Amino acid sequence: MINFSLIIPTYNESQNILILIDRIINLLEKNKISFEVIVVDDDSKDLTWKIVGEKFNSDSRIRVVRRVNEKGLSSAVLKGMSIAKGKYFGVIDADLQHDEQILPEMLKQIESHDVVVGSRVVGDGGYGEWGFTRKLMSKIATLLAKIMLPINIGDPMSGFFILKKEIFEEVLPKVNPIGFKILLEFIARKKGIKTTEVGYVFKNRIYGETKMSSSVIQNYLVALYDIRFGEVISLKFLKYAFIGFLGVFVNLFGQFLAKSFLNLTEPEIYRQNFTKPFYAVCFGFEISVLSNYIFNNIWTFKESRKFGFRENVLGFIKFNLISILGFLIQVSVWRFSFELIQKFSPELMFNGIDYICNFFGIMLATAGNYFLNKNFTWSEK
Ligand code: GDD
Ligand code: MN
Repeated sequence: MINFSLIIPTYNESQNILILIDRIINLLEKNKISFEVIVVDDDSKDLTWKIVGEKFNSDSRIRVVRRVNEKGLSSAVLKGMSIAKGKYFGVIDADLQHDEQILPEMLKQIESHDVVVGSRVVGDGGYGEWGFTRKLMSKIATLLAKIMLPINIGDPMSGFFILKKEIFEEVLPKVNPIGFKILLEFIARKKGIKTTEVGYVFKNRIYGETKMSSSVIQNYLVALYDIRFGEVISLKFLKYAFIGFLGVFVNLFGQFLAKSFLNLTEPEIYRQNFTKPFYAVCFGFEISVLSNYIFNNIWTFKESRKFGFRENVLGFIKFNLISILGFLIQVSVWRFSFELIQKFSPELMFNGIDYICNFFGIMLATAGNYFLNKNFTWSEK
């Protein structure tokens, strides 16, 4: 039976990976630990997957997964874990920056913990020769995580850790696979998780280059929000509401344009005429439906984004139908509240009151429309 599955995510690490695997084999054999190594490579240009496969093709402990349709560090780690056979799942970078020599100590600790983290901030740990800026960024990221999330480890950004298989199985459905902070996902999403840290000094990269980028940082901030507030207000709804918020201005502006066009500047006209002000509201509405569809398609629902003319026409029709339903709510609220005010508090009647009534209608319609669009217009296949 395999005790320990060590996952190594790689992207263009051909000059590092063989050195690392050799070191790991020596170390774990010496410590009499039964293990497997799973390299998860995202179809590296430098053929990392192939080099490993060729060198270790007769060693069944060394497995290689070549992913061609997916990319990303966190999702690669999850992929490795999903096929791992051990009791304990470890993750280590391929670039020799993490010190594999502490693995036996980490494995000792995992028996009485859920997660053991290779840490730059405890015991003999350190950042090595990191420059000021990178160190500062890491510290800020760590601080943010500690403020926002219920975690009690010093180096939650570490990509070097071991966790129990049961924890992986339990937390997996909640994990967001985007980005670099996979450890954070596990420790922050499982309440009362038992963690500990083992120190090591982060080494300099000698071969190859880092894949850390500004999108990694952006994903990180998104993930912090998602872990902390995602269950209360989903990030998608937040985006949708933001687009909707901008849409309100497009909507009101459209109404303003149409009102000017139709010469509806006197409130007096509302007592005699329903249809003309109604056209103005309709116009504002349709303009905002169009702009909201475009923004939601490229941003809010980008995972199920529609491409091409046909798909977008269909999507827009759905979005429009749902919006019309919302519009019925909007108009009812708009006109009804307007009538109410006119009847019971005529002193509140001023030129702009009709915008305010319309605004309340829009708010109510937004919530209902979000639900329908998420499940109908941009439903994930
Ligand atoms: N399969 C796969 N797919 N592997 C990837 C990908 C990817 O898209 N991106 C990076 N990797 C692999 C690299 O080949 C390397 O083995 C490891 O993931 C870490 O990538 P680096 O690009 O070297 O990251 P880093 O050194 O800048 O970041 C390290 O420190 C961070 C904290 O400061 C990593 O340990 C991070 O996990 C950690 O959060
Ligand atoms: Mn690195």
